[in-house]
Amino acid sequence: MKIVAIVGSIRKDSYNLKLAKYIQKRYQDRFELEILNLRELPFYDQDIEMNPPEVVKNFKQKVASSDAVLWVTPEYNGTIPGVLGNAIDWLSRVDKVMIGKPSWIVGASMGNLGTVKAQLHLRDILFAAGISSPLLPGNEVYVGAVHEKLDETGELTHEPTVQFLDTVVDHFIDWITRIS
Ligand code: FNR
Repeated sequence: MKIVAIVGSIRKDSYNLKLAKYIQKRYQDRFELEILNLRELPFYDQDIEMNPPEVVKNFKQKVASSDAVLWVTPEYNGTIPGVLGNAIDWLSRVDKVMIGKPSWIVGASMGNLGTVKAQLHLRDILFAAGISSPLLPGNEVYVGAVHEKLDETGELTHEPTVQFLDTVVDHFIDWITRIS
C-alpha cells in the first residue's frame, strides 16, 4: 500500500513533520509512506489551474497515484494552516484527484488539545464537493503537549501515544482493505 503524507507545516523542525517521519519509519512494513513537500507549491491561482507549474502537476500526480492520504496538521489560529488550505485548493480543482481517495488525519501541537479545532475543520473540508474524500471513521489522533512526547531525534517516547497509534494503524489498514 502506498500512502502520501501531506504535512501542514513547512518549518524544518516541525513536530508534525517529525510525527510523519516517525509514522513512516515505525509502520514501514505495513505501508510505504511518501512525505510530500508543500514549501515549493505556489499560491493556488484559478488563472493557471488548467496548466499549472510542474511542481503542482507533480504534487497532484503523487496524490492521484497513492492509495490514501495521511494529513498531518498543526493548528494555526484555531484552524488549518494556510499552506495546507492552499494545497487542498489545488487538489480540489480540474482533475480533482482527491475524489474517492481515502484519508486519515493526525495532528500535533504543544497545547493540550492537540489540534482538535484544526482537525474538525479539516474533516469538514474533506467533505467539500471538489475533495469528497472518505475519512477513516473515529480513530481521531490528537497529540497534545507534543514537545514532551517527541524527543530531539524524532522518537515518540510517550508509550500510550505509541500504543494508540499502533491501534489506529490497524484500524486504518482494516478499513482501507474493506472499502477498496
Ligand atoms: C500556533 N500555535 C497554535 N497551537 C494551537 O494549539 N492552537 C492554535 O490555534 C495555534 N495557533 C498558532 C498560530 C500560529 C501562526 C503559529 C505559528 C502557531 C502553536 C503551534 O501548535 C506550534 O507552533 C506547533 O509547533 C506548530 O506545528 P509544527 O510547525 O511544529 O509542526
